[in-house]
Amino acid sequence: MSQCPFGGDAARAAFPIARQCPFVPPREYREFQQQDGPVKVRMWDGRDAWLFTRYDDVRAVLADNRFSGDPSVPGFPSLSEARNAVLELEPAFIRMDPPQHGHFRRMLTKEFMVKKVTAMRPMIDTIFNRLLDELIAKGPPANLVEDLFLPLTSEVIAWLLDVPRKDHGFFQEQSRLKVLLDVGPEVPKAASERMLAYLDALITERSKDAEKRDDLLSRLIVEQVRPGHLTHRELVIMAELLLMAGHETTANQMALGVYSFLTNSDQLARLRAEPALLRNAVEEMLRFHTIVHYNAFRVAREDVEVAGQLVRRGEGVIALIAGANHDAKAFPEPDKFDITRKVDHHVAFSYGVHQCLGQPLARVELQVVFGTLFERLPELRFAVPAEEIRSKGDHFVQGLQTLPVTW
Ligand code: HEM
Repeated sequence: MSQCPFGGDAARAAFPIARQCPFVPPREYREFQQQDGPVKVRMWDGRDAWLFTRYDDVRAVLADNRFSGDPSVPGFPSLSEARNAVLELEPAFIRMDPPQHGHFRRMLTKEFMVKKVTAMRPMIDTIFNRLLDELIAKGPPANLVEDLFLPLTSEVIAWLLDVPRKDHGFFQEQSRLKVLLDVGPEVPKAASERMLAYLDALITERSKDAEKRDDLLSRLIVEQVRPGHLTHRELVIMAELLLMAGHETTANQMALGVYSFLTNSDQLARLRAEPALLRNAVEEMLRFHTIVHYNAFRVAREDVEVAGQLVRRGEGVIALIAGANHDAKAFPEPDKFDITRKVDHHVAFSYGVHQCLGQPLARVELQVVFGTLFERLPELRFAVPAEEIRSKGDHFVQGLQTLPVTW
């Protein structure tokens, strides 16, 4: 007879597990964290995977390169058919293991160094205030996702890569389609193909006069493609990763951050009273929402013992950063949004070799937004009852469908 707290077979809970509250990870993660080691879950395709939800265990898995992030390795767990279609596409370095992963990632490290990104703050500040001026001039109500956050994050990453403004709507739409989970496999695949075709043409054109230009793509053409360290195709795939990872995630995080402050007025009052809390408040919203909520899938390349469990070669593993960030042992009262808590050790940007490359940029963008928004719009509030605001539960990355506000 199973000892499962849900009355079923805990060793075979189905994954993904639905959230009871759209803004908090499912309570089952909390139950799993009471048990020793990982639990076995059953995926949609009938195969099993080991699910790790405890903070220490998640970090142990992500730090161990015997677990592969390459979806072509047999046994890699599958989240959905649509996600399979994305993982079957030509891989960017986010899907590669060392040492191949490091070869590509190193080409970009200097572009996202804290010092370099900090120097972009005045530019990000200017863009944000201009977009906010336009929003205020139009008057309420507004949808902050489409009217403010997507335009901001798109402009920033497009500035870095020098992607024409007229194409922002195009790449936003393809990114949105690529992260849908409950759709046929052709939807994300076609979206990615359109993006790759677009970037192929852009980079071909850029190659003609790259040495005269000063954007990230031109620098990669001159420093990596021409000397033969990177092929044209590899650059196209890298550019797709940067363009997509660089705007959709941060815009979602901004929307959820606003949601958290408007539904926790004491925290907003605290931030207003103590602007020095801004940096910590941003880390807390990253932890609290852990928007890449189905990260990270891995497969054991060899037999590995972790958290007291022998994981056999070829077995799938899910090291859930959303679980780790809501583990009461690492973050007391984890489901409480508290901008004063000790939070720097969160893993919302993952951990180990695949830790988010763009995190300094995401941080600066979030600090600019939350350091300005409530100051310039002190009366900001939802334009509909809070219960009507829908999360993007069906996406690989959490966010809000829309964020209707008035002021
Ligand atoms: C709030 C915003 C963001 C969050 C929460 C976030 C989160 C993450 C996470 C969890 C990963 C690990 C993915 C995995 O293991 O499969 C990741 C990887 C990555 N992110 Fe971000 N990200 C954000 C913003 C950005 C931005 C602005 C960029 C800029 C281009 C970016 C670029 C990347 C890249 C290139 C990787 C792959 C790193 C590697 O595999 O070595 N991200 N991000």
